[in-house]
Amino acid sequence: MDQLIVTTSSHRYPVVVAAGALASLPERLAELGLGGALWLACDAAVAPRYGEPLVARLRGAGFAAQLHGVPSGEASKGPEELWRLYSWMIGGGVERRDAVLALGGGVVGDLAGFAAATVLRGVAVVQLPTTLLAIVDSAVGGKTGINHPLGKNLVGAFHQPLLVLADTDTLASLPPRELRAGWAEVIKHGVIADAGLFAELEELAAAEGWGERPLAGWPTAGAPLAERLTALVRRAVAVKVGVVSRDEREQGERITLNYGHTIGHAVEALTGYGALLHGEAVAIGMHAAAGIAAGMGLCDAGLVERQRRLLAAYGLGVAMPPGLDPAAVLAATLRDKKVRAGRVRWVLPTGLGAVVVRDDVPEALVRAALG
Ligand code: NAD
Ligand code: GLY
Repeated sequence: MDQLIVTTSSHRYPVVVAAGALASLPERLAELGLGGALWLACDAAVAPRYGEPLVARLRGAGFAAQLHGVPSGEASKGPEELWRLYSWMIGGGVERRDAVLALGGGVVGDLAGFAAATVLRGVAVVQLPTTLLAIVDSAVGGKTGINHPLGKNLVGAFHQPLLVLADTDTLASLPPRELRAGWAEVIKHGVIADAGLFAELEELAAAEGWGERPLAGWPTAGAPLAERLTALVRRAVAVKVGVVSRDEREQGERITLNYGHTIGHAVEALTGYGALLHGEAVAIGMHAAAGIAAGMGLCDAGLVERQRRLLAAYGLGVAMPPGLDPAAVLAATLRDKKVRAGRVRWVLPTGLGAVVVRDDVPEALVRAALG
């Protein structure tokens, strides 16, 4: 079954992860009863390849659809691009029954999702993720928003999509480094909640010989490996679907999705956003967090090594960037969004597929993990 369902106390929507899924968009929108205009906000880098053919397909099916290109990159997640989206929609006569379609990675998903949450006090949004990170993480769960000069993602809203349609064929054009960063989130989902997924990722890596030569790009559409990878990605998405269904507003379990993020965010901030991709920093943070967990006796050292090897097989290193001062990283963890009453809340593995949240991690262990 290609389709998963997010079910919260107030929302229920399908999440489709399949090769070629974009072709089914018109009929899926019709099934959802969407009769208004469609506002396709699209990462400019993928507009010619995926955005323009999609608009033509939607128009061919009788929808009033138009496309707006959002410049690629994190800088677009700010007030200027948000305002441009508002002006495009309001100037074009957007109505409450219309829907925003967000085609691209997490940048476009967050930005267009927030525009949809706020224009006319809220119109529907459909997430059409085209990066592995967006498929596995950002497109599902309704977190939308923009950055503020004082920090990332500080202005936003929960706005659950009507539908998430992830076409894994689009990953074939994704730059290999972006793809690798996405695998960090797939592996993260295995560690926090699905030991079977972790084992399948290991088996595939062993079968393909990715130990010595890590996975490079996404295989071409139709290749058996593409199907196998799509199934693994879908299984990773199922972890997020489950977590969000049980804890839509991050009152509890949803914090576990931040495994690896405490040190990951600190490393991203200290190296200057952009030097490392988010997933690359998360991989470093996962290794450090697993080391801390082993140091506290929560898991055995074997887990740390298995996780390190799996990350390496999917092209991800775990070493701290050279020259980074451990004391500065430690200080930066205190600015983590999960800090409560001055205490860092760490997500730590107790075994494959299970994590706990602890705020009593000894500083010496964090220093050792950073060392
Ligand atoms: P991104 O959106 O910047 O995309 C990465 C790059 O890939 C861009 O250069 C883009 O042009 C290019 N690209 C996208 N799809 C492509 C394709 N199919 N082929 C070729 N190139 C393609 O980055 P991202 O990693 O997808 O997302 C990062 C953003 O997601 C951050 O802003 C982060 O804060 C946010 N995020 C949000 C959530 C959430 O829950 N809302 C979760 C995690 C991350
Ligand atoms: N990316 C973390 C979350 O959606 O909660």
